[in-house]
Amino acid sequence: IIAAFRSRGEPIVASLGFSGFAFAATYCLIPWLGDAFKKVGFKGKDMAKTHRPEIPETMGAVCAVVYIMCMFLFIPFPFYEYLVQTSGGGNRDVEFEVQQSFVGRTLHRFPHNKLGEYLSAILSLQSMVFLGVADDLFDIRWRHKILLPAIAAIPMLVVYYVDFGVTVISIPTVLQPYLGRLLNLGWLYYAYMAFVAILGPNAINILAGINGIEVGQSIVIALMIIFNDILYISQPGHPAMNSHLFSLYFLLPFLGVSLALLRYNWFPAKVFVGDTYCYFAGFLFSVVGILGHFSKTLMLLLLPQIFNGCYSTPQLFGLIPCPRHRLPKFNARTHLLEPSMAQFVQPPKNITVVLLTAMEKFKVVKLVKDEEGVIKECSNLTILNLWLVWFGTMREDTLAIGVMGFQLAMGLLALGIRHGLALMVYEY
Ligand code: UD1
Ligand code: MG
Repeated sequence: IIAAFRSRGEPIVASLGFSGFAFAATYCLIPWLGDAFKKVGFKGKDMAKTHRPEIPETMGAVCAVVYIMCMFLFIPFPFYEYLVQTSGGGNRDVEFEVQQSFVGRTLHRFPHNKLGEYLSAILSLQSMVFLGVADDLFDIRWRHKILLPAIAAIPMLVVYYVDFGVTVISIPTVLQPYLGRLLNLGWLYYAYMAFVAILGPNAINILAGINGIEVGQSIVIALMIIFNDILYISQPGHPAMNSHLFSLYFLLPFLGVSLALLRYNWFPAKVFVGDTYCYFAGFLFSVVGILGHFSKTLMLLLLPQIFNGCYSTPQLFGLIPCPRHRLPKFNARTHLLEPSMAQFVQPPKNITVVLLTAMEKFKVVKLVKDEEGVIKECSNLTILNLWLVWFGTMREDTLAIGVMGFQLAMGLLALGIRHGLALMVYEY
């Protein structure tokens, strides 16, 4: 694969090199900066340990800074052929050299659109990191911050509009007699992309709360996107080649910083990743999905997170009480995690009773009732708690590995469907 990249003049070696550097820098910086972060208040209590130790939080900021620096340093590499003189040298006179340097640099052919795409992605990403740090500092309410990713996405959506402007989607063969081969969604397509921008960061942030899960799921998703990219890149002359190269160059350094962070965030955690990491990782997936033109595939890879979000809605929309933290409950006697419960201060409304009773029938919630059968408690509606309802109490790292394994299995199945079934459902 590397030889194929090199023959096309693609800077894959530089990207791999920067990813290795990103790993090493993050690996060194996190333990060095931990105390300084704690001193300024970036710290959190590890709820699933006996004495609830206080450890540094917002370590995602270290990852994000190292990542963005590496992405800046990487900029000249994809444009090497336009920036460096391709002829010259020897004993020629100075005037000729100057002339050649202009001709040789072929700046008139410089792909400003490609650079624009790259820079807008970094700019949007940087705004999200900023929001993440603000959230770690001020604990912003979710109804206040929910739309901000869509605003952060504007620079990249403008570049999308100028460069591609494609707002048509292809229609599955069975629906073609009714809708035609292609359907133009117009502005709805931009609304859809704004939705993808909002989905990514929030999806990662609410599947959180146990050691290693935020970074672990992000690494699994990144690996699957990279695998999907390689499937395209390995087909010579594929029309989507450049989009997937773009995605690869954004994800490799991300993998570098994330692996280093996982080393410290894995059970028993020495640092927390903070909302900064969740927003950074989730938004990065949205960015590569949008600018790489594979947002539908991205949705498939985020299915466990999307399910977690839908499953959470009764709590997010106030039908069921939503405590500040919904992470699983630590049992100090057994040292194992149990499903955490939301308490009903007043008896639940009829609609809530109907919903919860139906959910209990399908074994997707655990209820505690009093002698009269009135619901007093229900397990918090997250897939971490659901996993514990289904498979019983377990250690924090076992739960993290289980959910990550589920994510991987679902993702590979989704990719199989995407690449196998798509040929049946679509014509290409
Ligand atoms: C989201 C979830 C919340 C969950 C929290 C855990 C929703 C709507 N919100 O809130 O239910 O409790 O994430 O991250 O679903 N923590 C641990 N162990 C860990 C990771 C985090 O104990 O491995 C605790 C620490 O006290 C840490 C805090 O969670 O300080 C971070 O929570 P924060 O990211 O601020 O919560 P939200 O993102 O607002
Ligand atoms: Mg969070």
